[in-house]
Amino acid sequence: MNRPHIVCHMVMSIDGKVTGDFLYRPECEKATDIYYEINRNYKAEGFICGRVTMEGSFTNGWYPDLSQYEPVKHDMDLKMDFILDAEYMSSFYAVAFDPKGKLGWKSNKIVDEDPGYGDAQIIEVLTEQVDPRYLGYLESMEIPYIFAGESEIDVELALFKLKNIMGINNLLLEGGSVVNGYFERADMIDELSLVVAPIIAGSEDKPLFMESKISDYTLNEIKKYENNVVWMNYKRLEKNHD
Ligand SMILES: NC(=O)c1ccc[n+]([C@@H]2O[C@H](COP(=O)([O-])OP(=O)(O)OC[C@H]3O[C@@H](n4cnc5c(N)ncnc54)[C@H](OP(=O)(O)O)[C@@H]3O)[C@@H](O)[C@H]2O)c1
Repeated sequence: MNRPHIVCHMVMSIDGKVTGDFLYRPECEKATDIYYEINRNYKAEGFICGRVTMEGSFTNGWYPDLSQYEPVKHDMDLKMDFILDAEYMSSFYAVAFDPKGKLGWKSNKIVDEDPGYGDAQIIEVLTEQVDPRYLGYLESMEIPYIFAGESEIDVELALFKLKNIMGINNLLLEGGSVVNGYFERADMIDELSLVVAPIIAGSEDKPLFMESKISDYTLNEIKKYENNVVWMNYKRLEKNHD
């Protein structure tokens, strides 16, 4: 396969929602613990999140003063991605789908106590919409970046580069709803790993895929955990519904 194997790993409500207050209710605590445990058990080479999830989980809205950084001229035709020499790359990655370069990182690795996230080498996936000074900032921080698209991230191209430039073979896709939808529509999800909490979400909360098309999956494994939490693993079937 010319791209990493993708497992979409999420906690969800009985009614298939993945965002909102229900995630922080005591009834969901056990499901969240199991979610992190399964994340670690996958031993993936890294994880992908959308810009909103990365901001909420790791950067907390901080942003650098770009006037301090030299703009970098990016030429799509010359495929000017920024990668570090192999000796400076780790073997565990946090891949941020950040089309306009809105995430402010204070380090080139994720700072988190959980071994499923902490110390992951950050990789930014960008589009042509990015401020060239943001590239100067990323380079000064030694944060690798790849370009994949003009205004929206071309998921297939991004994954091709992650495999062929960065050498990544498998990744967890860990939300949120919007980025999951982009992957689903591009047929880039090989497995679903769904931890279902015994709770119904609010009507304003977002579904597993913000926008989706019809695709077929087969149930590979199902397990009941304590506190009425269920884990389901599905594998994608190669069928075309277009
Ligand atoms: N239940 C779970 O397991 C779980 C896991 C993770 C997150 N979450 C929840 O999910 C929520 C956030 O999810 P969300 O759906 O709002 O946002 P999200 O998917 O985290 O991020 C969406 C943003 O990512 C960028 N993006 C991603 N893919 C793109 C593509 N192919 N092309 C262009 N832009 C792309 C865009 O950034 P710009 O806006 O900068 O253009 C887009 O608005 C949080 O509340 C979090 O708690 C839940």
